[in-house]
Amino acid sequence: MTTGCIILAGGAGKRMLSDRPKVLCEVLKKPMLGWVLDAVSEFGFDEVAVITGFGREQTEQFLENRGEIVHTYFQGQQLGTGDAVKQAAEFIGAMDCVCVLNGDAPFIDAKTLRRSLEFHKQSRASVTVITADIANPDGYGRIIRDGDRLSAIREHKDCSPDELEICEVNSGAYWFNSERLLYALPQLSANNAAGEFYLTDCVEIIGNAFAFKSDNPDIVLGANTRKALLELNESARIRVMERLMDEGVNFLSTDGIIISPEVKIGCDTTILPNTIILGNTVIGKNCEIGANSHIEDCTVGDNVILNNVQAYSSTVEDNVKIGPFAQLRPGTVIRKGVKIGDFVEIKNSDIGENTAVAHLTYIGDSDVGRGVNFGCGCVTANYDGINKYRTEIGANAFLGCNTNLIAPVKVGENATTAAGSTITKDVPPNSLVVERSQPKVIENWQKNFKRKKK
Ligand code: UD1
Ligand code: CA
Repeated sequence: MTTGCIILAGGAGKRMLSDRPKVLCEVLKKPMLGWVLDAVSEFGFDEVAVITGFGREQTEQFLENRGEIVHTYFQGQQLGTGDAVKQAAEFIGAMDCVCVLNGDAPFIDAKTLRRSLEFHKQSRASVTVITADIANPDGYGRIIRDGDRLSAIREHKDCSPDELEICEVNSGAYWFNSERLLYALPQLSANNAAGEFYLTDCVEIIGNAFAFKSDNPDIVLGANTRKALLELNESARIRVMERLMDEGVNFLSTDGIIISPEVKIGCDTTILPNTIILGNTVIGKNCEIGANSHIEDCTVGDNVILNNVQAYSSTVEDNVKIGPFAQLRPGTVIRKGVKIGDFVEIKNSDIGENTAVAHLTYIGDSDVGRGVNFGCGCVTANYDGINKYRTEIGANAFLGCNTNLIAPVKVGENATTAAGSTITKDVPPNSLVVERSQPKVIENWQKNFKRKKK
């Protein structure tokens, strides 16, 4: 049996007041559509289709950036979820069974999809709706049951006062027998409170419908407004931290901590307040991250301290201490035992084991050996206004305070630069280089100066 998935992503999301399509609004810095696509890829459908509409180019760009291999169908006018599904009639015809998902309900997961498909097959249903009981059903379609069977889904706007009391709601995720769905779609009418073609009306038209009630109410949560989006962020945020605590990660407080669901953190690591950890980040054991750190797409080893650090697409090996107030820009590798202090920026550079960069330093496009000492205020001048060049610093070199290294340039192993030197030529190993003018001393200057003034 072939299974296809149709993700509805065409809506404008008027209540969100955004220039972007609603499905690109983010939960934990990941567009809601990304969450749905992750669940879909984990499930493993034969084919996937995405219905675009409002902000089509942005949605297509997002799919392309993720390298998604999906069919896209464009819905010219946003006439409702039923009309959106209609755009994929050809796709539906090519599948035995299709799953329809809302692009604005990010917490649907592969496990629920698997279990509900099993249920759908076993009950020989023509349509199975994934539902859940939730505390505040406002805005959701209500599940009207007839015993085990599902007789209808009533949209909030169309509910009678009695129906409004129902707490079992439609998640916006369904399994349809393709043939029956194609039979129902042309029969939909927009004769309802919203004046839209509701996909939910297919349930009554098709008949032989069942509800698969999930015991996890989160899977139904969708966001139509900024307030709902904040609630989704908050619940996802807490869930990620709870999972990490189960894995031995330590939190003194959850204040201001945002961690993407993909992030992996080892046991005995403590995350301090106002720390944001995003993307494909892996952090080892027994680290202290934060306070006030932003770590994105980084690999961090064990026993690392990152205090008030911003780090992007970089690697930090074991036993490193960085901060406070330091930035690692993309392409940086910090080797074992390195110490980096305050107001240091490092970009696209490799910093060798046990090197110390204590304060006020910029290192860009550089290869630094082990055991190097950077005095306060060293700068690699890696850019001449047109091109960027690399700087090489050999093991155990000692850079005096305020050394400028004008790239391309090499400092040999064990070499020393005198404080305040601007190094323009390669420095041989084991040497001392002083590139600064001789002092000119004018004796008794103060006395003469005062006399002239009189
Ligand atoms: C829908 C369901 C409701 C369910 C809820 C769960 C209908 C009629 N109602 O309501 O029963 O409880 O989801 O979250 O389906 N979309 C299009 N084209 C359109 C309209 C919408 O592609 O013309 C897309 C939207 O981008 C969105 C999804 O379909 O991703 C759901 O649309 P939305 O308007 O948010 O439906 P709800 O009112 O939330
Ligand atoms: Ca919605």
